[in-house]
Amino acid sequence: MNKQHILVLYAHPAPHRSPVNRRLADAARATPGVLVQDLYDTYPDFDIDAERERALVQDASLLVFLHPIRWYGMPSLLKEWMDVVMVPGWAYGKPDSVLRGKGYWLVATTGSGEDAYRPGGLHGRPFADFLAPFEQTAALCGMDWIAPLVMHGAAQAGEPAVDAHIAEFTRRLHAYAAPLQAARAAQAQAQE
Ligand SMILES: Cc1cc2nc3c(=O)[nH]c(=O)nc-3n(C[C@H](O)[C@H](O)[C@H](O)COP(=O)(O)O)c2cc1C
Repeated sequence: MNKQHILVLYAHPAPHRSPVNRRLADAARATPGVLVQDLYDTYPDFDIDAERERALVQDASLLVFLHPIRWYGMPSLLKEWMDVVMVPGWAYGKPDSVLRGKGYWLVATTGSGEDAYRPGGLHGRPFADFLAPFEQTAALCGMDWIAPLVMHGAAQAGEPAVDAHIAEFTRRLHAYAAPLQAARAAQAQAQE
């Protein structure tokens, strides 16, 4: 993988039962300049190789966190990934810490529809309230927060809605990848 790629951190505890996230991961794999790291496939025993993960992150300009929402947050292996990979000094806390300036893009799905995320609804508050820890993580690390792409009601979504969501994800991912691809091509030409 060349420098300045997009790194997708894909975390689904049961990908064989995932009608939406699995397709999003496949769409990312098919996008030039995008590297998908399937965390549950790579680390089924949760024994994360932190050095290897840091090397993957190092040259990425954009991190995409792709996962279903579980208990109002991220799946447990992704949380473990953050605990062991994003250590102080490397992830934040120094002017030249590694994550500074990289993009942070959350691409998530929920089981409940958006109407459940409101005062008086099943989940009591707007979904945006649950994004605070994600957004603050990006801020702490000096990362650029990119508007999340969230599909609500993913568990019950019909095929046309899923198709439309995959298309929107693919469109945005290509838009983020294109300038990186162009920069790489220009660099390669300059070296000829
Ligand atoms: C353990 C567990 C916790 C979950 N927590 C939430 C939750 O907090 N909010 C919500 O809307 N859906 C929750 N869900 C539903 C998943 O988010 C939903 O099934 C998933 O986003 C569907 O995507 P997929 O088809 O790719 O698996 C939970 C599901 C499981 C199994």
